[in-house]
Amino acid sequence: MSKIDVPRIIAHRGASGHAPENTLAAIRTAHELGATWVEFDCMLSKDGRVFLNHDETLERTAGVTHRACDLDIADLVHLDVGAWFGPDFAGEPIPTFRQVMMLLSELGMGANVEIKPCKGHEKETGMAVAKEIDGHWPEDIPPPVVSSFSKESLAAAIPLLGSEIEVAQLWGRVPAEWRQEIAALGATAVHCNAFRLEKEIAGQIVTSGVPLRCYTVNEVPLAEKLFGWGVNCIITDYPDMFI
Ligand code: G3P
Ligand code: MG
Repeated sequence: MSKIDVPRIIAHRGASGHAPENTLAAIRTAHELGATWVEFDCMLSKDGRVFLNHDETLERTAGVTHRACDLDIADLVHLDVGAWFGPDFAGEPIPTFRQVMMLLSELGMGANVEIKPCKGHEKETGMAVAKEIDGHWPEDIPPPVVSSFSKESLAAAIPLLGSEIEVAQLWGRVPAEWRQEIAALGATAVHCNAFRLEKEIAGQIVTSGVPLRCYTVNEVPLAEKLFGWGVNCIITDYPDMFI
């Protein structure tokens, strides 16, 4: 059983099929399309601030070659991560995690906060994200689900997070030893790649009562198959396709 009431549909990086990923615009778009929760990726700046970004470098979304963790927040927030997606979004900035929490509160939305460390920054990114949640998560929205592919980030975050917060191990392909791995870490949910999930493993997880959520599901037949297997939630770029 999930600790909290997580919906069956979560908008991936905001509604990233319709607006530039990991921006305030993408979160607002998800809300306009009827989504009640969003997923986004949290990184750490050189000067220790948490902001939203997916890739190790800023080349794809901002057109600059720097590693995201090599810039201070003052430089990051002036980058345009909207123009690559389309002219309507030109000038859309990188948001800080603090700005995103305020927007979630304004819109009444919940969130899956993915810890996305640059390589070599796993521990400090996990700690920084957890401290931000502990100190600034709005009281008027549900507690977040915190996830990461990085065990090191999750291990650093878990002791700093309140017990009401659900922690999910993210995997591409779920390993056979999933149960031991989440128990050793203290995680309570599994998030995985929808295309690499096997029916038998899904059945084990579902039967155990461990929440199982899949990314990135952008086709109705795939969603139907996964829900048929007992998957609790899909994370999608197009929430409007399912809501
Ligand atoms: O958290 C689910 C999903 O976002 C994980 O993959 O690469 O899109 O962050 P990625
Ligand atoms: Mg993500």
